[in-house]
Amino acid sequence: MSKTVKLTIDDATYEFPIVEGSQGERAIDISTLRQRTGMITLDVGYANTGSCTSRITFMDGERGILRYRGIPVEQLAQHSSFVETAYLLIFGSLPTQRELTRFSVLLNDASLVHEDMKVFYQNFPRASHPMGILSAMVNALRSFYPELQDVEEEVDVTVTRLLSKVRTLAAMSYKISRGHTVVYPRPDLSYCANFLNMMFNSPVKPYVIDDEMVAALNVFWILHADHEQNCSTSTVRMVGSGRVNLYASISAGIAALWGPLHGGANQAVIEMLQDIAASGRSPRHYIERAKDRNDSFRLMGFGHRVYKTYDPRARIIKGTCDRVLAKQRIVDPLLDIAHEVEELALKDDYFLEHHLYPNVDFYSGIMLRAMGIPTNMFTVMFAIGRLPGWIAQWKESMDDNEWKLCRPRQIYTGPPQIDYVPVKSRG
Ligand code: ACO
Repeated sequence: MSKTVKLTIDDATYEFPIVEGSQGERAIDISTLRQRTGMITLDVGYANTGSCTSRITFMDGERGILRYRGIPVEQLAQHSSFVETAYLLIFGSLPTQRELTRFSVLLNDASLVHEDMKVFYQNFPRASHPMGILSAMVNALRSFYPELQDVEEEVDVTVTRLLSKVRTLAAMSYKISRGHTVVYPRPDLSYCANFLNMMFNSPVKPYVIDDEMVAALNVFWILHADHEQNCSTSTVRMVGSGRVNLYASISAGIAALWGPLHGGANQAVIEMLQDIAASGRSPRHYIERAKDRNDSFRLMGFGHRVYKTYDPRARIIKGTCDRVLAKQRIVDPLLDIAHEVEELALKDDYFLEHHLYPNVDFYSGIMLRAMGIPTNMFTVMFAIGRLPGWIAQWKESMDDNEWKLCRPRQIYTGPPQIDYVPVKSRG
């Protein structure tokens, strides 16, 4: 197979190397393009652009494959825990028992947040979205905890601090938004059990840890743990490339995740299903709307930039969602609507031709609802899950020598030079 490509511009021909990934993916290395030809590439939305090489996550959108550090996500969802998967992503391989124990101890040790941070929460207006609050609080962590040093031990400490505290901050934001007393983390509980306890324990109704809910949360967070160079991860890498600290980079990633075309889709799906239920119209009406080019409505939880087949995570979450509903003895009418929407879409030529299948967000909202998580916390749940991926990608970009300041170019289409006219002469 050819190792170079030739590009002809006017009368000149240039040769560029082909870079090959370990799974046979091929890219044209155009890093010397501008210097040699004076031209740049134009790729709005970066759908054809590789921004880095990475050893963390492999996904094949045509075949519906997702692997973390080579391990299929299906195996991790079935056998691993979120903490173990986080270790795998961040440190590169599955931990030994000793390493896992140390990591868990570090997570426990770092789980409390500075009491002064509670004051911040109390001053946010009541209607604030928890994603905006979380992004601000993670940025604020940098002021409370010392700068990451360039020492191996310090990276471990900062990373575990972030993983642990974001979970505590998220649960705190829920309690404070309801005007309830904050529940502190317990050292005897696992990462996921601790989160559920901090969310749902109260002085009037003690929370009883339910192993099945803990297992479902582990699966949910494992499935969200990384997804290579998506919008929020690319944001983390881009912000980090200016050599800003880890907290600020993650805070930017949280903001990027918030949007309904990205992580905010899980909230948007539930709102869409509720709208369908309230409208009294059939799901078919909404399928027709989604197909109408003159209507801005899109089927939330459908489609993906990379997956052109069923999202492998959606398949797993659908099964987990069914189990949670059965365990909680919940009959959710939104689930019936979701099934009907999916069934109609999977038979519809428009969706088939556009390769639009359910993504991870389509069923995850119904599962989180059944677990008692309020809708405006859904994207925060996603953010906690994505944290190991963001950290791993930030760490990889920091470790690799290729860590350059991210600074794309543009093709300017505005006016040519125009002379300034003083306001009094403008009429
Ligand atoms: N409903 C109806 N039509 C859709 C949908 C949808 N959900 N998604 C894409 N399309 C159509 C577009 O209208 C377009 O049609 P056209 O070519 O006839 O004009 C075509 O499919 C391609 O759409 P793009 O927006 O160019 O595709 P892109 O790869 O940029 O979009 C995205 C991916 C943003 C996820 C899109 O599918 C979407 O908006 N989905 C709904 C929101 C969603 O579920 N987001 C979560 C994604 S997963 C995640 O980030 C965690």
